[in-house]
Amino acid sequence: MKFLEDIDVKGKVVFLRVDFNVPLDENLKIRDETRIQASLPTIKYLLERGARLVVASHLGRPKGQFNPKMSLKPVAERLRELLPGTNIIMAPDVIGPEVDRLKASLKEGELLLLENVRFYKEETDNDPEFSKKLAQDCQVFVNDAFGSCHRAHASVVGIASYLPEKAAGFLLKKEVEHLSRVTHNPEKPYVAILGGAKIEDKIPVLESLINKADVLLIGGAMAYTFLQAQGKGVGKSIVEEDKLQIAADIMKKAENSGVKLILPLDHVMATAPDSQEIALVADSYPLPDNLMGVDIGPKTIAEYEKYIKSAKTIFWNGPLGIFEVKPFSRGTVEIARAVAESGAFSVVGGGDSIAAIQQAGVADRISHISTGGGASLEYIAYGTLPGIEALK
Ligand code: 3PG
Repeated sequence: MKFLEDIDVKGKVVFLRVDFNVPLDENLKIRDETRIQASLPTIKYLLERGARLVVASHLGRPKGQFNPKMSLKPVAERLRELLPGTNIIMAPDVIGPEVDRLKASLKEGELLLLENVRFYKEETDNDPEFSKKLAQDCQVFVNDAFGSCHRAHASVVGIASYLPEKAAGFLLKKEVEHLSRVTHNPEKPYVAILGGAKIEDKIPVLESLINKADVLLIGGAMAYTFLQAQGKGVGKSIVEEDKLQIAADIMKKAENSGVKLILPLDHVMATAPDSQEIALVADSYPLPDNLMGVDIGPKTIAEYEKYIKSAKTIFWNGPLGIFEVKPFSRGTVEIARAVAESGAFSVVGGGDSIAAIQQAGVADRISHISTGGGASLEYIAYGTLPGIEALK
């Protein structure tokens, strides 16, 4: 795979895929620009070296329809502030005669931001004709969209076959370097912390971690599917009934491989996810019938901290409770602090876990905060991603 330093871009039209899938508020203002900042080094490098730069991204899931609420215009405005002196042109579309005209008239050091690639259904279908149109008049493909590399879409994968020269941007390179330290020969003990709502999203990563990690600390709603699969009464907690067998199989595999899969020892319980009030902390089963688990309790925090302290490598994805509701955020925030203080090589991925790291004020003590949630999980599970393979 080639990197930016390996290619000459002077005077060439470069198609750069980034992940500018940033959250917008109701006034279409950007709420968090981490992903824009993360690709700035690649953008600046290409502009400074005289590329005629075409930049593409998706934003949200417009499902093949033009949707002004998911336009990349707010991103173009922000880019103008971040790159003063650079001519930034906002394209009215993704493909078509007007876009072709704008591409052809781009000068060295100018940037053309295409509209949301997902305004076309052909993007998510990885349609060859659409990929070819994206590549039209371009000579080089650069992918810096780590957060989208698990999607075999036209602007991530399809386009690569139409552009002979291709390379990974700085962000993609950095993400892969850090994540491969967790996937290939991680320093032991390796502790993985997995939370979030559903086991379903995490089956491949759980299967892979059973072969690599020493300890799996489980939290979030998905812990209740595991507990129920052990025959424990979990009250009103959310359980994926159709995943009980899978949960049981994963626990069996972990046991057979000598991996410790640890479930919460006590539970912060509430009447409803949005009740804002802790009803009680329970540490014996069955959990009360009329209550649901919304966070890990203090005994669990202490137990998980023990493993985190002795770890040399940590991977974390997913909150350990209903983190966005203040009274139920303690477990996630305490674990964020413990990870930061551990001194281990730590990688955190996924929007909610990153928000927890920020709320705990420890972002600067995490070795790597990934810009990709789904992408980092899939990288850990499979050791590569479709968007990376397409660059080879
Ligand atoms: C993300 O936010 O994880 C990426 O931008 C991918 O978005 P998607 O899940 O809508 O494909």
